Amino acid sequence: MILLRHSQSLHHLFCHHLRSNYRFSCFVVVRFARKMSVSVKYTKLFYNNEWHEAKSGKTFETVNPADGTKLADICEADKADVDVAVELAKKAFQIGSAWRSIDASKKGMLLLKLADLFERDIEYMAELETADCGKLFQDSKDDIKFTAGVIRYYAGWCDKICGQNIPCDGDYFAVTKKQPVGVCAAITPWNYPIAMFTLKLAPILACGNVFIGKPAEQTPLTALYIAALCKEAGFPPGVVAILPGYGPTAGAALANNMDVNKITFTGSTEVGKLIMKASGDSNLKRVTLELGGKSPNIIFSDYDNLEYAASVAQEAAMTNMGQCCCAGTRTFVQEGIYDKFVEISKMLAETRTVGSPMNDDSQHGPQIDSEQKGKILDLIESGKKEGAKVVFGGKSMDQSGFWVEPTVFADVEDGMRIAKEEIFGPVQSIFKFKTLDEVVKRANDTQYGLGGAVFTKDIDKAYTVASSIDAGTVWINCYNAGEANTPFGGFKMSGIGREYGEESLNNYLETKTVILKVPQKIN
Ligand code: NAI
Ligand code: MG
Repeated sequence: MILLRHSQSLHHLFCHHLRSNYRFSCFVVVRFARKMSVSVKYTKLFYNNEWHEAKSGKTFETVNPADGTKLADICEADKADVDVAVELAKKAFQIGSAWRSIDASKKGMLLLKLADLFERDIEYMAELETADCGKLFQDSKDDIKFTAGVIRYYAGWCDKICGQNIPCDGDYFAVTKKQPVGVCAAITPWNYPIAMFTLKLAPILACGNVFIGKPAEQTPLTALYIAALCKEAGFPPGVVAILPGYGPTAGAALANNMDVNKITFTGSTEVGKLIMKASGDSNLKRVTLELGGKSPNIIFSDYDNLEYAASVAQEAAMTNMGQCCCAGTRTFVQEGIYDKFVEISKMLAETRTVGSPMNDDSQHGPQIDSEQKGKILDLIESGKKEGAKVVFGGKSMDQSGFWVEPTVFADVEDGMRIAKEEIFGPVQSIFKFKTLDEVVKRANDTQYGLGGAVFTKDIDKAYTVASSIDAGTVWINCYNAGEANTPFGGFKMSGIGREYGEESLNNYLETKTVILKVPQKIN
């Protein structure tokens, strides 16, 4: 999920594209190495408000994707550590515990304090985030600012979560209470490490649950730093645990644990299915999933600002180096403006500034790891073989670290692999269409349904398309806008449930109906 800033800053970006030249030099990398001497403060597992070695004694490396160098050795959690952390979390959730009996308003104050700490440490946290995941430094800062707002939004909910008062016949009286689900585990990805982690942490705590987070193995550093901030903010022991480790070990142990009441996951559709299955095989823990996408972005020929539409469309595909669940990877362009649109898209890609993620003017940094880089290059090759036209890019970049050129394909056909599979890399595919009916059918011809967009000046057309696209979010004349209060999530195989906004609270609450017999005797 990305943020309003992308749409707000597009005019700036477009002007920037026009000014700058495509460049990538060793000089940039050298500067990068000097600037990225970030010190890593926390490398151990966090539970019960203390730092612990892994029971197995094992550690794993986390590396900087911009140059492939090691940042730290991190203690590696697996089932034994998960079991201990879950026991302590259960204890923190017991009736009568400090957390279970905390005033709703006090809970809100703790979250507000946490948001303040995010802002206090924004520079350091952004450096850590950029070093660990290769995200542009300015984007890391924007993510942290946005995330502080998300925490404050859920802090505000703490004393506003209410049930209903239901009229009953006779002497009965019913109320519903909204109660926390209990032990909530969050398994998060590497593409927006701070934002995805906190998007789960904040509503889980606001609803009065206890939290166990497993960050992606590629990006454990900022989650561990958030653990320290939670302790500093004053959350009682056992309420927050952070267990870095691998998916099939630590992640699967959480998904299969009989005392974890809820699991909220963001990542691949493949692993989302495993998590649903683990829930069914264990204790039917509640499951929220935010998975992949292949989002369509439809540009009609009546749209009056082609440069703007093309710029937004390219950002939609390439923001965060394309590592974005709602990336607008299928750009559908109406036939009358198709050639001109492709020409502008080529110019935009050519002038995209590639360089160190720490440089203020960089628009394009590295991919997360060699596995993802390999997957992206394989799909790019398939596009070439299947006959799509490479308008720009299409190759690996010969640098240490994991770099792929910003890539634009035109004349893409619906049956090609690049039209169907989630690439999760900096690849824009441009398709030609003739009519509204045709493009809506083609846009929906996918197993995914996370996002979509339409560019037109015709309100009837805009609303018809927005109503017809099977996706959790549809943007009109913009892309990637969204705030703490706008629900986000997927139709079809893009997921189950919604995050952000009031809807996210439902993921972490149970409804309890209390029925009283109260004979009314008034003499
Ligand atoms: P992944 O789905 O394997 O990883 C996401 C999280 O799930 C990580 O914390 C990982 O440790 C955990 N995980 C992995 N296997 C698990 C298991 N068996 N049980 C419990 N947890 C498990 O994603 P990966 O391998 O990093 O990327 C593969 C593809 O997934 C990408 O190319 C992209 O298409 C998609 N993806 C989508 C994301 C999104 O935002 N929706 C984020 C990351 C990846
Ligand atoms: Mg995986």
